[in-house]
Amino acid sequence: MSDNRHPELRVLVLAPFGKDANLIKRVLRQAGVNASTVANVPALALAISEDAGCAVVSEEVLRDDEINVLAHKLANQPTWSDFPIIVLTGGGISTHATELAVRSRAPLGNVSLLERPLRPATLISAVRSAIAARQRQYEVRDHLLERQQAEDALRRAHGALESLVEQRTTALRRLSARLLRVQDEERRRIARELHDSLGQYLTAAKINLDLLARSDHKATPQLCEARELIDRAISDVRTLSHLLHPPLLDEAGFVSAAKWYVEGFGKRSGIRAELEISENFLRLAPEFETALFRVLQEALTNVHRHSRSSSVEVRLTKDPSAITLTIQDHGVGMPPETLHRFRENGTSVGVGLAGMRERIKELSGTLNIESSPRGTFLKVAIPLAPRERENSATNLNSPSASFHTVVAHP
Ligand SMILES: Nc1ncnc2c1ncn2[C@@H]1O[C@H](COP(=O)(O)OP(=O)(O)OP(=O)(O)O)[C@@H](O)[C@H]1O
Ligand SMILES: [Mg+2]
Repeated sequence: MSDNRHPELRVLVLAPFGKDANLIKRVLRQAGVNASTVANVPALALAISEDAGCAVVSEEVLRDDEINVLAHKLANQPTWSDFPIIVLTGGGISTHATELAVRSRAPLGNVSLLERPLRPATLISAVRSAIAARQRQYEVRDHLLERQQAEDALRRAHGALESLVEQRTTALRRLSARLLRVQDEERRRIARELHDSLGQYLTAAKINLDLLARSDHKATPQLCEARELIDRAISDVRTLSHLLHPPLLDEAGFVSAAKWYVEGFGKRSGIRAELEISENFLRLAPEFETALFRVLQEALTNVHRHSRSSSVEVRLTKDPSAITLTIQDHGVGMPPETLHRFRENGTSVGVGLAGMRERIKELSGTLNIESSPRGTFLKVAIPLAPRERENSATNLNSPSASFHTVVAHP
């Protein structure tokens, strides 16, 4: 390989006598090799770092202490580097002895010996081989550097992507929490409108019809039917309004609203529903009560729509640090792929389970689902905020609270 490909690589020449050093330098330069002399071993050790191709060193300069300086430098080379050194031997010392001296006294590594008297062609050929080897080392270095840079860039891109995903996830979570809040407010508003507006008109119409029926002793069948229809409309509007947002939830709290809801659920669905509540359960902060009620509502709706179970048990317990709500049905169970997807990334076929999960997460709680062809078990655990904890501590007289059971028959 011609050193013309790597004209920048220098040969460092270290010989004790100015005459030798200059002679070597001249021979190399005439062959087109970039050569420069260095004054001593420390200078050589320093110059090795500066894109040098190889060193031509006369053995006279390699005294014990200087070999150590050079050996130390070479021992600390980077992994890609194995700096070639050509040692000029001879001049009265036997080749064997020289080799021993160089090889055994210090691990200089990539050393080759050239015996004096030197022939220019031999020197040039040895130097070119050393430079070519050194060039390959630099190529390895560049390759390693490129790889390192690519890895760094990849790591940075990965980090940036992760932080972007994190930001988007946080934004989406905020958005979904806000949507759930807006949904709750909207339901509350529609429930109030239904009750206060439509409900009141229907009640007024019912009063008029009643008056009409009383004043006209021969009330027509149409009048009777109209009264019945209005009665049914009043009842349906009331149920719809209460299902959208039970007034009991605000007035009497989650426990009362849950009892009311489970009883109605049993009647409407034909599913035997049992509700068991630990008696220490008192009022909680509104966000806890709303979340628990919506979760209960969605879970029971799912039991009705999907499980084909004839019964369901709801259990609500509270200890000083957490609230636990469990819903157990004995139906056909969730499709395994739906359950798997839900466990993997929190998504499901509809918005019910995903919404439940978000509501619970908002309160730092957890939602676990076990499901098999023998039924589905849903467990919600919500840690209590310090305020709630104080509340429960004052009201928890017995550590193992007794239970209060409501059974809603179809
Ligand atoms: N108790 C259950 N028993 C059997 N399968 C269930 C039960 N609960 C949920 N699933 C299954 O999990 C799926 C996802 O439930 P999810 O509540 O998220 O959506 P959905 O009820 O289908 O629709 P949405 O709630 O949006 O009206 C359901 O479609 C159903 O297949
Ligand atoms: Mg659902």
